[in-house]
Order: sequence, then structure tokens, then C-alpha cells
Amino acid sequence: MGIGLLPLLGGCRGPLSVLDPAGPSADAIAQVWWWMFGVAAAVWLLMIVLGALAMRAGRDRSGGKGEWPGVEEGEHRSGREARRAEDGARQRRIARRCLVGGGLLLPGAAITALLLFGSPAGFHQLPWPGAAAAPLRVEVTGHQWWWEVHYPDTGQRLRNELRLPAGRAVDVHTRSADVIHGFWVPRLGGKLDAVPGRTLVVRLQADAPGTYRGVCAEFCGHGHAHMTMVVQAMPADDFDVWLKTAPALAADRTPAVATAPAPEARP
Ligand code: CUA
Repeated sequence: MGIGLLPLLGGCRGPLSVLDPAGPSADAIAQVWWWMFGVAAAVWLLMIVLGALAMRAGRDRSGGKGEWPGVEEGEHRSGREARRAEDGARQRRIARRCLVGGGLLLPGAAITALLLFGSPAGFHQLPWPGAAAAPLRVEVTGHQWWWEVHYPDTGQRLRNELRLPAGRAVDVHTRSADVIHGFWVPRLGGKLDAVPGRTLVVRLQADAPGTYRGVCAEFCGHGHAHMTMVVQAMPADDFDVWLKTAPALAADRTPAVATAPAPEARP
């Protein structure tokens, strides 16, 4: 069945696919996803095999006529009790092994592995000094229901559009002007909540120039589904030229520029 589903993974591409990473931050997340998928699939297969073996063993055992296979009709009563006690001890031994193995060792190993693989992926999303050469700083503020993008170095402002240089780390400082929003460009990096009164930072990077998409990943009201963003990764030189020469727009916080139509206008 698993192999039959493989062609469907072709559907995992697209502008909002985590499984189609376009930079190191997103790549780290995709790798964790694939490891989790692989291990979960292996555990699933193992459980199916164990279940089938257990059913077969149970059938073989109950195949005999008596309750205690091998016990002769005329066997001494004390012998039968001894067998029963031995069987009980075996059951307790198995239960103890299941508890220690399945309840302590297995989850312990799984959580340790997840920590070892997951933590480096998390570090990729953090604005660690020294981890990237001169990351670009961009401030993104969530509004109901649009994104305000600000480049503090030059004063540039964009609405529902994020421009960034390809091949360079970009530290996105997220904020919110009203409720909690979720800043997310799935092909370039991790998801981060934009929380009122706080500034949280996520590091994105696009390996190649291109157009990507961002969304709001936290329900924030009736315009939530339309709170999207176009992300343009430009060749680094073009980006520098744009950043220096494009006229800086004045900060405009009026929600009138929101792209989301009124809910009653939609079917
Ligand atoms: Cu903003 Cu959902």
C-alpha cells in the first residue's frame, strides 16, 4: 500500500509545499519530516508484522484440544498447578519486558533521535550571530488582514509582498498590530507567530531567485484565508539596486489596503 501511494507524493510540490524546500532553513525542516515519515512507516510495518505473528502464535496454541497442551489426562494435580504457576510467571516476565522495552526504552530512543535531528533544524530558523554572513533585516507586521513589510535600513515599505536577496539569510522580525497572526513562507523556512506586543525572529533563505508564497498560518478573523503574501527572491545585485533606488513608501496602517474582500462578497 505504501508503495502504491508513492506516485501521490508528486502532489507534494507547489508554492506552499514544505516538502519542496528552496533554501537551507526549509530544507532542514523537510529532512526532519522525511525522517519522521520513514521511522513512522517502519514502526507501522513492524507492528503489522508483530500483530500477524501474534495472531498466528495464538492460533497455533489454541489448536490443541486441552486447555494445557501436552498435559496428559491422568497427570498429577500438583503437576498441573506447577505448569499453571510457570505459565503465570512467564506472562509476568513478558509484561515486564513490554513495559521496560515498549514503555521506557523505545520512547526514550525515539525522543532522543527526534531531539538529535530536530534541534539542528530548529537552529536553522534562529537568527544566530555568526551563522550567516550579514543577514538582511526585514520587519513584517501582521494586520487584519494584510502584511506590512518594512526594510529598516532604507525605510522601504511593501504591502503583501516580501522582496529578498537570493542566497543571503534574511532575519524576519515579526510583529502584530492587532491579533495573533502566523508568518509562514513554507518553501523558505519555519512558521512563526506574529504576536502583539512582542517581536519574534525567524531566519529565511532562498537559494535561487524566484517567486514564492507566504500565508498567515494562524486564524485571525474572517479575512484570514486571504492574508497571503508574494515573496520575490531577487538576484542579490538586483535586490541591492531596488532597495536603494525604489521610492520609500510612507507607512500606511489603514486596513483599507487589505486585499481580503468583505466576507459577504465571497460565496
Ligand atoms: Cu492573519 Cu490569519
